[in-house]
Amino acid sequence: MRLGVNIDHIAVLREARKINDPDPLDALGIVKRAGADQITIHLREDRRHINDWDAKRVVENSPLPVNIECSIDDEIIDIICRLKPHRATLVPEKREEVTTEGGLDVIKNFDKIVQVTQKLKESEIDVSYFIDPHFEIVAAAADAGADMVELHTGEFANIFAMLYTNLPHTPHSIKELELPRAQLKEMLSRAIGDLENSAIYSAKAGLLVAAGHGLNYQNVEVITKIPNLEELNIGQSIVAASVWEGLESAVRRMKELIDG
Ligand code: PXP
Repeated sequence: MRLGVNIDHIAVLREARKINDPDPLDALGIVKRAGADQITIHLREDRRHINDWDAKRVVENSPLPVNIECSIDDEIIDIICRLKPHRATLVPEKREEVTTEGGLDVIKNFDKIVQVTQKLKESEIDVSYFIDPHFEIVAAAADAGADMVELHTGEFANIFAMLYTNLPHTPHSIKELELPRAQLKEMLSRAIGDLENSAIYSAKAGLLVAAGHGLNYQNVEVITKIPNLEELNIGQSIVAASVWEGLESAVRRMKELIDG
């Protein structure tokens, strides 16, 4: 199973001071040396971390394939077509969110997504959609022309954290901490079942399958058991662990966990 390392949070740290350090470009060689398979970045409309200059330098210098997460906004898509990364992952974007909160609504935005997908493919860029693990959305993704889907593991990660660390993955779910453990366990099985069924259905529909969001050393093993999964994209927990153990060690440890 491939590991894509999302290096946005290195740019988050830089932007906290609005200077040039740390430079996400310095992560490229380290991530490769540690055994990862892909560099992932998110070029957000508000450029809150990765900016156009970063994206250009990452695509031009990465020793690994580059996956750029982006919205379906026309201006952003034009930039991605010029940059020509290996892959674009279409994500929903809201200015007020801290991170990508849910999957892309492929059903509601179907025509626009078809148009954007065609445009990216004409620029020889593979296209993935970051989606919630639901049968109807997978079906719409296949119809819209995606090459791959990345299944949103946020809900799984949230419930897992409530059950096994007694901490919610997001502050929104604090109320759910009061739920009985049996109910949380049932919620966790349902979340895993949704991911498994979506992965099986995606593969049957001819889509490659990735997953990501909220994955960490504790919960990743469960996700590696999901059938047909070819790739995981992980950012926050790797960059957080690298504060204590260094980026190379954090990526290597995550890769070892994924490889079992
Ligand atoms: N995949 C996608 C599509 C994302 O938007 C994100 C968050 O930027 C990730 C993976 C990585 O999530 P996390 O930072 O929680 O590991």
